Amino acid sequence: MNEKVNFGSRKVLKTKKTKLVSDIFSSVSNKYDLMNDAMSFGLHRLWKERMYVVSKLKNSDHVIDLATGTGDIALKFLSKKKLINITCLDENQEMLDICKSRLIDNGFVQNIEFIKSSAETTNFKENSYTLATIAFGFRNFTDHLKSLENIYNSLMPGGRLVIMEFTTPKNKLVKNIFEKYTHNIIPKMGKILADDYDSYRYLAESISTYYSPREVSDMFRQTGFINVRHETLVGNMVTIHIGFKC
Ligand SMILES: C[S@@+](CC[C@H](N)C(=O)[O-])C[C@H]1O[C@@H](n2cnc3c(N)ncnc32)[C@H](O)[C@@H]1O
Repeated sequence: MNEKVNFGSRKVLKTKKTKLVSDIFSSVSNKYDLMNDAMSFGLHRLWKERMYVVSKLKNSDHVIDLATGTGDIALKFLSKKKLINITCLDENQEMLDICKSRLIDNGFVQNIEFIKSSAETTNFKENSYTLATIAFGFRNFTDHLKSLENIYNSLMPGGRLVIMEFTTPKNKLVKNIFEKYTHNIIPKMGKILADDYDSYRYLAESISTYYSPREVSDMFRQTGFINVRHETLVGNMVTIHIGFKC
């Protein structure tokens, strides 16, 4: 009941974290896309393209994109394979509203469902999806194992889960530069571009306190996923995990 979990560099009650994270995304939602481009120098677009390749998307896929945010992954997937069915799930209503508008503005209105829920608490339809994706959302979750269990149950046998997340680089020099950039520069950019220093400080802290790629792979296996593997993208700042339901 009084269990504590990481919220950036602080420990908070498990029961409070989801709301604290949601407040952050309410605060940044309007400037989220602008900040993504600025903070990553546009690199997040290349990372998401790689996630598309790793996902091996087919027109027949029934996809659930969790932590869909403003809908980058949904938009990319629908642009590439127009016949997919996709469910966009996010805990934050403001982010989900932007996602919905962006999809409609781009002409995507059919075979799309929106769910406002946390990955931990949603009533997933069992054996429904062939592909589940999470881009840069998993580290914000409150109960990682519970959400993996929910996702596992929602996948059809043979379905796959693809998670992309930041990783702290191993190489000391690169790690030093990465941490200086995320902890010192990004919050200042957040202040200038979005008038929000604290939310972007949380972003940096949440990367530092997040699991290693090996720990995430272990959680996949613990949940029941098979053929679990991960690849770390150029620069060692981002990792893509994949696992299959048997
Ligand atoms: C950094 S954004 C990523 C958005 C998008 N996937 C992208 O790559 O641009 C993280 C998103 O995760 C959502 N989120 C955080 N905790 C969540 C949870 N427990 N369940 C579902 N969504 C959550 C936030 O509301 C936010 O929209």
